[in-house]
Amino acid sequence: YRKLRVALLGAGAVGSQVAALLLRHGDELADRAGASLELAGIAVRDLEAPRETDLPKELFTTDAESLIVGADIVIELMGGIEPARTNILQAINSGADVVTANKALLATHGPEIFDAADQVGAQVYYEAAAAGAIPIIRPLRDSLAGDRVQRIMGIVNGTTNYILDRMDTEGAEFLDVLADAQALGYAESDPTADVDGYDAAQKAAILASLAFHTTVPLDSVHREGITRIDKTMMDAARHAGYVIKLLAVCERIAGDQESISVRVYPALVDRSHPLASVHGANNAVFVQAEAAGNLMFYGAGAGGVQTASAVLGDVVSAARRHIAGGVGVGESTRANMPIVPIGHVTTRY
Ligand code: HSE
Repeated sequence: YRKLRVALLGAGAVGSQVAALLLRHGDELADRAGASLELAGIAVRDLEAPRETDLPKELFTTDAESLIVGADIVIELMGGIEPARTNILQAINSGADVVTANKALLATHGPEIFDAADQVGAQVYYEAAAAGAIPIIRPLRDSLAGDRVQRIMGIVNGTTNYILDRMDTEGAEFLDVLADAQALGYAESDPTADVDGYDAAQKAAILASLAFHTTVPLDSVHREGITRIDKTMMDAARHAGYVIKLLAVCERIAGDQESISVRVYPALVDRSHPLASVHGANNAVFVQAEAAGNLMFYGAGAGGVQTASAVLGDVVSAARRHIAGGVGVGESTRANMPIVPIGHVTTRY
């Protein structure tokens, strides 16, 4: 096989699992990709930080820039805006394809990154940026490209679903369960990103952009978190036949000029709705499309090894594209529909 050099940036919960799986299943992935995937190195901030998987020490470096030079595929799993943005742009401009799970970056700087990739014919893959292990980026972008998505209702944050679920089923207190979610590795390093709905809003912006073939700016997403949900509200919801879930709702709004509404808020979900039975740190994305009808995508929305599955799928796609000479699998989404996002619309499900 032709050898492709893979540079990994970041070795946190997801990155360390990606590296371990890439080393463990290298031969199998090479057969699928038609190329051998050589892990050239892992760039980290702190060489001494504890890792979740046992990885060869000689792979680690603090010099991301040198690692990117000469890489065919760059996997960015550092999170945050900088230096991830600069590193990704460097990777694109040096001829690499990029795989990233960075929802914060894509939701705020997506157009800049996709434009840079378009200019040099590179590709950016981001299946892991929304809903962890669940394949949802490709279904929205590719499988449903011939349909018209009307609405998406998603549980897209594992931490808050885990917290709300334990509050609902065990009567647990918010802060106790938050500590457990952090210990289990679901929460972002700053858990306010989860509990205040920022993480879900970023994912909603990404999913709505794909579903409606447009660019939804993060600041047009209405956002409410779950910190004001207490035991009394949970009990009241239960007695009325509902469960409280943090939903990301993205939908078309009919009018003279069609617009879309994207919003994240704790909603009352009827216990008979499929989204009500999403427990623990799982995610689910319920899609209503004009021709397809209702579809539901369900699975692990957070967790290192689970999310690594989506990252490695992207790595195989990127390798196949490289081998095919830069054509084929996975074209980036472009704005082709003049949709104007609007603000909050109150809805009960
Ligand atoms: N903190 C995120 C969550 C991780 O809880 O869903 C996956 O993006």
